[in-house]
Amino acid sequence: MTPTIELKPSARPLSDAERDAVLANPGFGRHFTDHMVVIKWTEGRGWHDGQLVPYAPLSLDPATMVLHYAQEIFEGLKAYRQPDGSVATFRPEKNARRFQASARRLGMPELPVETFIEACDALVKQDQGWVPAHGGEESLYLRPFMIATEVGLGVKPAGEYLFLVIASPAGAYFPGGVQPVSIWVSEDHVRAVPGGMGDAKTGGNYAASLLAQAEAAAEGCAQVCYLDAVERKWVEELGGMNLYFVYGDRIVTPSLTGSILEGVTRDSLLTVAADLGYTAEEGRISIDQWQADSESGALTEVFACGTAAVITPVGTVKRTGAAWQQSGGEPGPVTLKLREALLDIQRGTAEDKHGWMHEL
Ligand code: COI
Repeated sequence: MTPTIELKPSARPLSDAERDAVLANPGFGRHFTDHMVVIKWTEGRGWHDGQLVPYAPLSLDPATMVLHYAQEIFEGLKAYRQPDGSVATFRPEKNARRFQASARRLGMPELPVETFIEACDALVKQDQGWVPAHGGEESLYLRPFMIATEVGLGVKPAGEYLFLVIASPAGAYFPGGVQPVSIWVSEDHVRAVPGGMGDAKTGGNYAASLLAQAEAAAEGCAQVCYLDAVERKWVEELGGMNLYFVYGDRIVTPSLTGSILEGVTRDSLLTVAADLGYTAEEGRISIDQWQADSESGALTEVFACGTAAVITPVGTVKRTGAAWQQSGGEPGPVTLKLREALLDIQRGTAEDKHGWMHEL
């Protein structure tokens, strides 16, 4: 059953001036809007009691299952201010379907696609004063997520869940904005294994990335890059975003092997790049090939992509015993062209040929 979301709004005491100060420099994931959506699921009853309520802490029993066995999934999507002042989200249906796939992988109930979109719409409509102005780098980042709320320590799929959506005004994910990020290639740790849950968007994958992320930081790098778990050879993805390799007018992203997250930005770029006349492909790239093609000059640019990161150029790459720079450590022209083309669609200044924008 699809619950109707009951409105119980009542804003937190934040003046327009205080909110505008936040919107002028939101950072990433530091500030949250006034409301949130909460929908319950109970075994035998399904989805029920959908509500839009003031943003507030959750009260959880210490034995709540998610706190022990990490049965949790999440999504990330953005709402953009359009030139006429209206607001639209980017491909929410794609996120809704990935949320269902993640739910299946973690033994959780699937939220209907229309309920996912209705929940995001309800929150953005209520808190639309939090959507940053048109034309800049900023947008409103939506974070739908689901947690197992049954109380108990037995290891089993829970019989109760909460689905929530919160929202956070977002600027650049990396403090340097569109400046190139440095990458540490981890040859000791892997992010996900074949048959594991690397293609599900679940907190456990991000927890698993933190030690390697700390090692990357110790190497002076902003992000960690993972290789496949079996041969420790094939490039998979970064800690929280996908990768693209640019060979002149051909762009290649690692194929979905089951241990790579199917990014919405990754998928969109396969289409946007083809629209711009590039050859866009999925394929396998080994770390040795990455290094050799960079050194020979055949690999002209590398960039990271994701909802939070948008498109961020890769600058320095370090692995044990070697380091090199992509495109002289500057953002490359193909990276910047793809970035602008995607952002133009999202900001409503280019034609939405593929019907990706969802107007509220
Ligand atoms: C996103 O790009 O939306 C992500 O989920 C990456 C990260 C912030 C976890």
